[in-house]
Amino acid sequence: MKKISILGSTGSIGSQALAVVEAFPERLEVVALAAGRNVEKLAAQAIKHRPKLISIADPEDIPQLRALLGDFRCEILAGDEGLEAAAAHPDADLVLSSLVGIAGLPPTLAALEAGRDVALANKESLVAGGSLVLAAKERGGGKLLPVDSEHSALFQCIEGREEQVETLVLTASGGPFREAKPEDLANVTVKEALAHPNWQMGAKITVDSATMMNKGLEVIEAHWLFGVPYSRIEVLVHPQSIVHSLVRLVDGSCLAQMAVPDMRQPIAYALSYPERWPSVVPQLDLAKASLTFQEPDPELFPALALAREAALAGGGAPVVLNAANEAAVAAFLAGKLSFLGICAVVEEALAKLGSEKASSLEEVLALDKRARSLAEELAKLK
Ligand SMILES: NC(=O)c1ccc[n+]([C@@H]2O[C@H](COP(=O)([O-])OP(=O)(O)OC[C@H]3O[C@@H](n4cnc5c(N)ncnc54)[C@H](OP(=O)(O)O)[C@@H]3O)[C@@H](O)[C@H]2O)c1
Repeated sequence: MKKISILGSTGSIGSQALAVVEAFPERLEVVALAAGRNVEKLAAQAIKHRPKLISIADPEDIPQLRALLGDFRCEILAGDEGLEAAAAHPDADLVLSSLVGIAGLPPTLAALEAGRDVALANKESLVAGGSLVLAAKERGGGKLLPVDSEHSALFQCIEGREEQVETLVLTASGGPFREAKPEDLANVTVKEALAHPNWQMGAKITVDSATMMNKGLEVIEAHWLFGVPYSRIEVLVHPQSIVHSLVRLVDGSCLAQMAVPDMRQPIAYALSYPERWPSVVPQLDLAKASLTFQEPDPELFPALALAREAALAGGGAPVVLNAANEAAVAAFLAGKLSFLGICAVVEEALAKLGSEKASSLEEVLALDKRARSLAEELAKLK
């Protein structure tokens, strides 16, 4: 029985992870659940999965949460204290880090420092704090298992042949605007940006997929996860989202991982690793699949170049990239910034703060805060 703690249980990844737990009741047990504001959903999950600890973002929500739990009793915590307790729960073998945004960094570090294996969906942790995450993993001695479908694919292709890998190729669906022309994007609505053709995901990552900032963040994530320099990480648009990523080997072979586009597959692999359990998703119908690949259009997707520049600059630049993007996406979702304004805000924030340094967690969080408020101000001017 593997005991797991889920950070962000009420979100898209967290909920799908609980669906995987339900498929393997004899192999997976939930010991802690942490969520943000969705008290009703957390209470329903707790009643079903009977964890020892649950945590909610705001302590003021605890009385409502307790009332919703009825007869079920467990420890209830809130805020940073609750997240950290869920992350480092003494009974957990594995922690699923599936909060959205920089909020995922401190609990991811706490889990790794405590020696837990971490299944990582929260890519923002690696973008803003890659070296901190690797150092915490070294000290704690746990494993870091990718959940993002692309990185799960790379992990599966690389394992055992690390020395033979020439380049990593991350695939991207291209999102809802793959066929658009740059001038079509001026009047994009929130509804259009949230209409992803292949994946059902949380709002922030769905907008990131529409701008392709998501792929830029994933290039940085791949660099930290696999220790490969940026010059050896490519991006290809693959509209069908069947090849989740691939590696080119030194002898000219390409190894790809394929599966239906359903996040339960990479989640199940991270939870079952190093084993493989019976499929929770349908097998691919290859006779019906068509596979096409193309270069991303740099004019349509300027976020990719911005992310690469920030990645190569290093220091605090990826922190600024991530924070400005989070703030700009939030402004877009609130109807306060245009779609094209997202990249414009990130570019300006990078120009102003991109050469700052940030090494410790405190410095990363302080720079994140500055970049976030700068981006909020810039968004008001657009
Ligand atoms: N969704 C996908 O298919 C997918 C695929 C690959 C990678 N990822 C990555 O996985 C992560 C999660 O994405 P998602 O789509 O699952 O996001 P989501 O649906 O928005 O869920 C985010 C989760 O984080 C919780 N949360 C947010 N801020 C919090 C805080 N301050 N304290 C405690 N909990 C907090 C939310 O709680 P409440 O809802 O209760 O407020 C929710 O449970 C992201 O880093 C994303 O890039 C997602």
